[in-house]
Amino acid sequence: MPDPEEFVVTPYEVKGKIDYDRLREQFGTQELTPELLARLHHLAGGDLPPLLTRGIYYSHRDLGPLLDGYAHGQPFFLYSGRGPSGPLHTSHLVPFDLCVWLQKRLGLPMYIQITDDEKFWARAGLTREETAHWGLENLYDILALGFDPKRTHVFFDSRSIGALYPLAIRVARRISYSNVKAVFGFAPSANIGLIFYTALQSVPCFWPSWAEGRSVPCLIPCGIDQDPHFRLTRDIAEGLGYPKPALLHSKMVPGLLGEGAMSTSGNRADDALFLNDPPATVERKLRSAFTGGRATVEEQRRLGATPEICSVWALWRSRFAESEREFAEITRTCRSGELLCGDCKGQLIERVHGFYERHAAAREKAKDWAESVIVTEAPKPL
Ligand code: TRP
Repeated sequence: MPDPEEFVVTPYEVKGKIDYDRLREQFGTQELTPELLARLHHLAGGDLPPLLTRGIYYSHRDLGPLLDGYAHGQPFFLYSGRGPSGPLHTSHLVPFDLCVWLQKRLGLPMYIQITDDEKFWARAGLTREETAHWGLENLYDILALGFDPKRTHVFFDSRSIGALYPLAIRVARRISYSNVKAVFGFAPSANIGLIFYTALQSVPCFWPSWAEGRSVPCLIPCGIDQDPHFRLTRDIAEGLGYPKPALLHSKMVPGLLGEGAMSTSGNRADDALFLNDPPATVERKLRSAFTGGRATVEEQRRLGATPEICSVWALWRSRFAESEREFAEITRTCRSGELLCGDCKGQLIERVHGFYERHAAAREKAKDWAESVIVTEAPKPL
């Protein structure tokens, strides 16, 4: 019998009920402490975004030294990415929302990697046309979140390979098959694209240092599932003469159907809000989303509801409650039974509609400059 407590988190598979503290111990990452957040709060000019104040980012590697450097005039750059396999949903915004905020507050360059090769290798059902198509569509959505065209650069793997490859050659020689196998546990049938792939995901960590001919530190906001790649990257960094990338890890946002519902449901598309869902679909999905509410209104008024297990509360938490005051009020009235699930969902639907409308306009604008930030050339021969 499989242990019900068992969970798996790798870049290629996330399953089971994740115990995040145990995961952090397994991975050997550090806890994102209030002290570190206070330092970032100070450097950023006196506040923090919801993703940092509400516990969605909870773990890191080497954030302290990175902030020390920044405070002493050593700037760093941001790096995150997306493996395109379909439309983005709201949880895919977690790394990029944080990057937009950090770019604005600290004036940092941003590098985005769109890995249209990775998901083609990882998922048998996807065609190359699909991964390339979704790569571009996802890129428009990501840029539209508010990245600065002057400070944002994109590696679109199939198109940027000439810019990445000179460094990938060097990275790949240092990562052994047995390390990759130990970290990802590939089956013998795994294709060799996946075995090479970590080299490509590593390259952006070092690329600005290579381009500028000096050491430029890197910070990677990402889901904790991506940590295994960067463990390998960090192990080889110094040997190549580059700084180890620092990381900020987030938890995975739960699906709309609630834990356990995911695998039994015939309709996985209802588990997430896709950015290309029309308003009526958003409304339908949110109306049927799993909550922490009670069976009857009477019970809920009397006993209150449980935000921690609620998929609607998770959405307020990760992005849609704009101020700390609003978020605290939603949480308090949910717990006390004053706020009923139907009303809460109605308010969230309005909020999400507003975001989708603004986002659609920003996305059209981003299309005008997306091509111009795709990096296609190596900075120098290597
Ligand atoms: N592997 C990531 C995914 O499956 C895509 C990715 C590439 C990425 N580079 C990254 C994610 C850097 C986080 C940080 O979506």
